[in-house]
Amino acid sequence: MISLRGVGKSFGGFRALDGVDLEVPAGRVQGLLGPNGAGKTTSVRVLTTLLEPDDGDALVAGHSVRTEPHEVRRRLGVSGQYAAVDDKLTGHENLTLVGELYGMRRREAKARAQELLEHFRLDTVPRGQRAGTYSGGMKRRLDLAGAIVARPPVVILDEPTTGLDPRGRRDTWDAISDLAAGGTTVLLTTQYLEEADELADSIAVIDAGRIIAEGTAGELKAQAGGSRIDVLLVPGAPPEGALRAVAEAAPGAEYDQRAHRITASAPDGPETLRRVLGRLAAAGEPVAEAALRQPTLDEVFLKITGTPGAARLPAEASTGRSDS
Ligand SMILES: Nc1ncnc2c1ncn2[C@@H]1O[C@H](COP(=O)(O)OP(=O)(O)OP(=O)(O)O)[C@@H](O)[C@H]1O
Ligand SMILES: [Mg+2]
Repeated sequence: MISLRGVGKSFGGFRALDGVDLEVPAGRVQGLLGPNGAGKTTSVRVLTTLLEPDDGDALVAGHSVRTEPHEVRRRLGVSGQYAAVDDKLTGHENLTLVGELYGMRRREAKARAQELLEHFRLDTVPRGQRAGTYSGGMKRRLDLAGAIVARPPVVILDEPTTGLDPRGRRDTWDAISDLAAGGTTVLLTTQYLEEADELADSIAVIDAGRIIAEGTAGELKAQAGGSRIDVLLVPGAPPEGALRAVAEAAPGAEYDQRAHRITASAPDGPETLRRVLGRLAAAGEPVAEAALRQPTLDEVFLKITGTPGAARLPAEASTGRSDS
C-alpha cells in the first residue's frame, strides 16, 4: 500500500535520503523511527508529493508520486509534524472545510466534523471558539482529525504525539489504533521506541537518510541485547562492592556515576535479576531499587549504529507543551 523504492533526496550537497526502501502492506501500521534530522519528514514529504525525489520512486496504492501525484493525494490523509490548522476558523469549521475540499457535501462534512470533534474530545470547546486559542495538544488533535475526515485508505502521520501531554498522547494512540482496526494503512514517524512499540506492527529505523534496521519492537530490542537490569545504589554508598556483586551474576555490568546506578544486560531476564539480588544480599550490599526493563531507544541506536541516538518518551509528569 505504501512503497519507497531507492528514494534519494539531496539538499545542496547534503544527502538527506540515501536510498530508502520500505514496503508497507495494506492494513499495517508501520513505524518510521529515528532521531532528529534522520530523514523522517523528508520521507513523508516525498510520499505526500510535496517533494520530488532525486532518485527512486514512491508509490501509494500502486500510484507513483512522480507520474500520478493526483492519484496519490486522493488516497492519502496526512498530519504533519506541525499542526496545519486555520487559526481563524473554529475546530468545526476547520474540519468541515477539509471535508468539503475532499468533495463531501456540506451537510455530510458538518456531520463528520462533529463526529470527529467528539472522538478527539474537542467538542467541549465553546462552539464559536477559534482554533487559534487552542493549546498545542488540542491543535495536534484537530490536525489529526483533519487527516481522517475523508476516511482515506492510507494515513501518514509525522510525529503525531510530539508535544502532547500523557493524556493527549494516550488519546492519539487510541485514535491511531482505531484507524488500524478499521483497516487503514498507517505510516507514522516517531522519535520514541515506546510509541512505535505501542502502535506499530513493524518498525523501520532510519538514521542519516538510510534504513538501518527493520523488525518488530521485540526484534529491535533483542538486537540491542534484550532485557537489562538497573540497580540504583543507596545515596552516598561507595559502588565498588555492589558492582563486584552484580558483575558476578551479570557479566559486563557497568557503573553510571551520574545516576549512581549499575546497569547490566540480563540475558535470562527475571532469572538474572534474581541472581543479582542474591549476590548483593550475600555481600551485604544495600540497594535503593532494582528493576528489570527493556532497552531504551538510546541503547538500540548505540548497538546498531555505534552512536547514541534519539530521545526517550518524556516523563509521565511532563505537561502539554506546544509543538516543537
Ligand atoms: N528544505 C531543506 N533544505 C535543506 N536541508 C534540508 C531541507 N529539508 C530537510 N533538510 C535536512 O535534511 C535532514 C533530514 O531532515 P528531516 O526533516 O527529514 O529530519 P527528521 O527525521 O524529520 O527530523 P526531526 O525529528 O527533527 O523532525 C536534516 O539534516 C535537515 O536539515
Ligand atoms: Mg521531522
